[in-house]
Amino acid sequence: MYSLVKPLLFQCDPEHSHELTLEALAKTQHTPLAALYRRPAIHNPVELMGLTFSNPVGLAAGLDKNGECIDAFAAMGFGFVEVGTVTPRPQDGNPKPRLFRVKPAEGIINRMGFNNRGIDYLVENVKNARFKGVLGINIGKNKDTPIEHGKDDYLVCMEKSYEHASYITVNISSPNTPDLRSLQYGDALDDLLGSLKEKQAELAQRHHKQVPLVVKIAPDLNEAEIEQIADSLVRFNIDGVIATNTTLDRELVFELPHAQEAGGLSGRPVQNKSTQVIAELSRRLNGKLPIIGVGGIDSLTAAREKMTAGASLVQVYSGFIYHGPKLVQNLARYL
Ligand SMILES: Cc1cc2nc3c(=O)[nH]c(=O)nc-3n(C[C@H](O)[C@H](O)[C@H](O)COP(=O)(O)O)c2cc1C
Repeated sequence: MYSLVKPLLFQCDPEHSHELTLEALAKTQHTPLAALYRRPAIHNPVELMGLTFSNPVGLAAGLDKNGECIDAFAAMGFGFVEVGTVTPRPQDGNPKPRLFRVKPAEGIINRMGFNNRGIDYLVENVKNARFKGVLGINIGKNKDTPIEHGKDDYLVCMEKSYEHASYITVNISSPNTPDLRSLQYGDALDDLLGSLKEKQAELAQRHHKQVPLVVKIAPDLNEAEIEQIADSLVRFNIDGVIATNTTLDRELVFELPHAQEAGGLSGRPVQNKSTQVIAELSRRLNGKLPIIGVGGIDSLTAAREKMTAGASLVQVYSGFIYHGPKLVQNLARYL
């Protein structure tokens, strides 16, 4: 099915294709037409962070930013689904065009800038979803919130999403929100993690439910920076880490179409870089908290490399765009 649809989608502007697809999935997911993409569920469970993932392959954040198609993605065989990044208030994101295919390298460059309809809208969609598996809600800050007050945006999103999430991802690694990545370092990181942990304890009491807090990091970090982040994650007793987001590095797409567009590069060109970050992180964490590996997974081998480097679960985005649901089925079954 995807091999028929993909050439048509790849003829259109990337963001237009994305919108058309999400619209179609949202409209059909609760109808008999969902049979067109529903696949038998693959039961290959993983226990982690107190949760049972039905298989180790998740949908990475950013594809379903508003949580409009949760049941459609679950039907395709993902063992868990992460929605967002969502911000407290709706925002348009960056001017278009802001999404580009780097086809010869099976890469994607995006500078979407957290376009989303806000946390209240996302929570309504989560409430209406029928999916009973693990659902991650990925949270961020509004562009017009000064970085000094960024923490408040994460706390608002946490407060509103806690009850409805299986886990919450704190995204401090998107390259498309000015200064966001500065939250990955030093005192800014410690200050943020301390406040989020306090909030987690308060919400756990209020809702009688422990929702793991997971931090998502960038691939553009050197060894010293990874060591410092790992140290903070352990010190604040964070429940897990997602590595990695998109890269600013263009070395592997030099002179390819769209390579010079600003934004984060994902897909095959980030594969090794993100695996290296996972390996270094794993050395530093020494099993103290689990790693979810993401970045350029386009085959079973690539996914196994992430696991060998230290990941316990994986997520895909760009590989799913280039290879379709068949990739998810293959990974879910054999990982
Ligand atoms: C178009 C696009 C939008 C994305 N939006 C988000 C986002 O909102 N939040 C986030 O944490 N990651 C976002 N990502 C990053 C992915 O979740 C993932 O970490 C990254 O693309 C690497 O994985 P991949 O190579 O499988 O795509 C986005 C990626 C793409 C391609």
